[in-house]
Amino acid sequence: MTDIAIDTTDRITTLRFARAAKKNALTVEMYEQLTAALAAASADPQVRAVIITGTPECFTSGNDIADFARANAGGEVTAPLDFLRAIVNFDKPLLAAVSGVAIGIGTTLLLHCDLVVASPTAKFKTPFVALGLVPEGGSSVLLPALVGARRANQMLLLGEQIDAPTALAWGLVNEVADDAYAAALAKAKLLAACAPNAIKSSKALMGRPTREQVLETIAHEGKVFGAQLRSPEAMEAFQAFMARRPADFSRF
Ligand code: COA
Repeated sequence: MTDIAIDTTDRITTLRFARAAKKNALTVEMYEQLTAALAAASADPQVRAVIITGTPECFTSGNDIADFARANAGGEVTAPLDFLRAIVNFDKPLLAAVSGVAIGIGTTLLLHCDLVVASPTAKFKTPFVALGLVPEGGSSVLLPALVGARRANQMLLLGEQIDAPTALAWGLVNEVADDAYAAALAKAKLLAACAPNAIKSSKALMGRPTREQVLETIAHEGKVFGAQLRSPEAMEAFQAFMARRPADFSRF
């Protein structure tokens, strides 16, 4: 059993987070599978669009905190960065269908999707500071640019959770639909019927002014994130999560 379910039907590849028992928390292996699946979708001329989704109850609870704790002890964190670069560089339409919680990278990956559909149950949260961490995935630049600096502070500094109607009002998602996956699939089918080179070139043109800056931001955030990941602050937060108690940062 793999924790990423991959299906290609009618020229549309669906990448589904399938680790429901852990709220679809993303492990190193899952990032590696996602990165490989995106490379395969890019190389296959029969694939015209990709949808990233989760289970009906949950999009993803973000990076696996046990993996974070291992990285705190000195492990490597290249797999999430490779995945983030893969979605920034992905050259075909990339859609997301979000039901339930989208936490951490579950929200920041959406900033690199071309179209995002949310179900009414969707909730978006970037609790990096609560974990002793910092924004990743280009979100320190892309989120303020998308929703405005004040709202980005609510999400990235306070870690406030926003609901689907708010995400729609703020422009984080395109649409709220009862069946988010069905709505995303309908949009993917429209894109799949378009002239593929016109779609690819249009996407490339829209990404051109910012792609290098986004990649540089992801690399820089990755360095700051990596340093913070190995900090005593982060270890306190990871231990608190695993012990199901509030983190106590008062000694720092
Ligand atoms: N990493 C590792 N394990 C996670 C996880 C994560 N990000 N999110 C959830 N889990 C695990 C829980 O430890 C629990 O495991 P267990 O059954 O073996 O004890 C299981 O998934 C179910 O989670 P639980 O917290 O009991 O479910 P819930 O419905 O009460 O809450 C969440 C769901 C997603 C709101 C909550 O688990 C959560 O806040 N997770 C952490 C999110 C986070 O901070 N992610 C990192 C962002 S940078």
